[in-house]
Amino acid sequence: QESTRIYTKEEVSSHTSPETGIWVTLGSEVFDVTEFVDLHPGGPSKLMLAAGGPLEPFWALYAVHNQSHVHELLAQYKIGELNPEDKVAPTVETSDPYADDPIRHPALKVNSQRPFNAEPPPELLTENYITPNPIFFTRNHLPVPNLDPDTYRLHIVGAPGGQSLSLSLDDLHNFPKYEITVTLQCAGNRRSEMTQVKEVKGLEWRTGAISTARWAGARLCDVLAQAGHQLCETEAHVCFEGLDSDPTGTAYGASIPLARAMDPEAEVLLAYEMNGQPLPRDHGFPVRVVVPGVVGARHVKWLGRVSVQPEESYSHWQRRDYKGFSPSVDWDTVDFDSAPSIQELPVQSAITEPRDGETVESGEVTIKGYAWSGGGRAVIRVDVSLDGGLTWQVAKLDEEEQRPRKAWAWRLWQLQAPVPAGQKELNIVCKAVDDGYNVQPDTVAPIWNLRGVLSNAWHRVHVFVAP
Ligand code: HEM
Ligand code: MTE
Repeated sequence: QESTRIYTKEEVSSHTSPETGIWVTLGSEVFDVTEFVDLHPGGPSKLMLAAGGPLEPFWALYAVHNQSHVHELLAQYKIGELNPEDKVAPTVETSDPYADDPIRHPALKVNSQRPFNAEPPPELLTENYITPNPIFFTRNHLPVPNLDPDTYRLHIVGAPGGQSLSLSLDDLHNFPKYEITVTLQCAGNRRSEMTQVKEVKGLEWRTGAISTARWAGARLCDVLAQAGHQLCETEAHVCFEGLDSDPTGTAYGASIPLARAMDPEAEVLLAYEMNGQPLPRDHGFPVRVVVPGVVGARHVKWLGRVSVQPEESYSHWQRRDYKGFSPSVDWDTVDFDSAPSIQELPVQSAITEPRDGETVESGEVTIKGYAWSGGGRAVIRVDVSLDGGLTWQVAKLDEEEQRPRKAWAWRLWQLQAPVPAGQKELNIVCKAVDDGYNVQPDTVAPIWNLRGVLSNAWHRVHVFVAP
């Protein structure tokens, strides 16, 4: 009998295309699934995300694989075993401030490793209304702090005549617990489309700097009230400081208006749970701010300090970043003090399926995507065009509940449309409308800005039709 073939991880990782063969591993077994890719019930593009590496992190997201018939099917493609001595000890460079960052899910498309910034691929982004924690987009400016939940304290600076609080995690759990579904979007989502118009400064986010989770925690208004704060007439701000800091000791910081923080209807949370789990380290363990309807930058992670001040946070990220400008403003003329900080975001939508450049079957095409608007404004409609915007069809919105003025979460949508006979290519476009009848601009150029934020033009995908 022939002895089992042994492969190294490197060999497996070099098999990621039809030409080389498509290999994956499960446990210590190696499989050549080249012939199966096109037969995959979940679609070839999803399987390809795992090409050249382990299936476990992906199958953990899709429990449908946790069945004997799936394992039997995979067994047919076995070609050998992984080299047991191949476990290379990870070399830790101790002077590296990022050495202690957590391990991330391999499906994430990395825009920057240090600090870690990554988005889920479109194939997975709209697969679930609630984004699974391991593939929730991550936007870090600094190394991830490693905080001990037992000694963690959140400092709330008290009002004059009130009291300052130093809250342990247990103390926070003693406030009434609220759970809400909130979509978080980075101001730089879809920046890569602005770059195509003219260079901008920032990470090249595609359509994935947006994700949705169920967040649970104490309401900020309850905690502030305990520290003696009230909504007074002055235009005060609630400033948040993270426990992540750069080598000079400067922490990440941001602020929101006191009026929003004190409004119970605004549902601002000091969240300690994400989708029923303690917050993952990348998303702010043990406590982060969640400001429904507001740009991601204000949802301060690893929260260390909350204070009420007459002025906005003096943080770089409040004052010198995350602001919008005219296309005419460049780095020589920009005056950051002249523009307000971004808070509520404008209406947004994007196509996640099919992908740009893909070939779709003739007959019928399925188009999928997401739509969301800031400030709790509900998405009321998504229009889709197959001909670059000449004619439109209305997409079907998911059935998730939308509370008036508190539509904090996105709506997933889809459209099944016949492919017009004889078409060789399609220019698919989507645009959303919110309940203030706000619409997305049709092109990027008039909203281009030097920082590449607020990129919400009609999303366009060009595909070929199979003959
Ligand atoms: C469904 C096999 C890799 C995502 C399935 C099913 C099988 C299968 C047999 C149908 C299960 C059923 O309903 O009984 C495999 C094999 C893989 C693989 C053999 C690797 C060689 C992946 C990867 C992903 C994925 C890497 C995600 C990144 C899905 C999804 C479905 C599915 C989302 C459900 C499709 C639906 O409900 O319409 N897979 N899979 N699969 N697979 Fe995979
Ligand atoms: N909070 C801290 N402490 N440090 C950060 O770098 N990034 C902000 C915000 N909160 C950041 C932070 C930005 S710009 C965004 S878009 C969101 O966190 C991203 O949250 P996520 O990584 O959980 O998706």
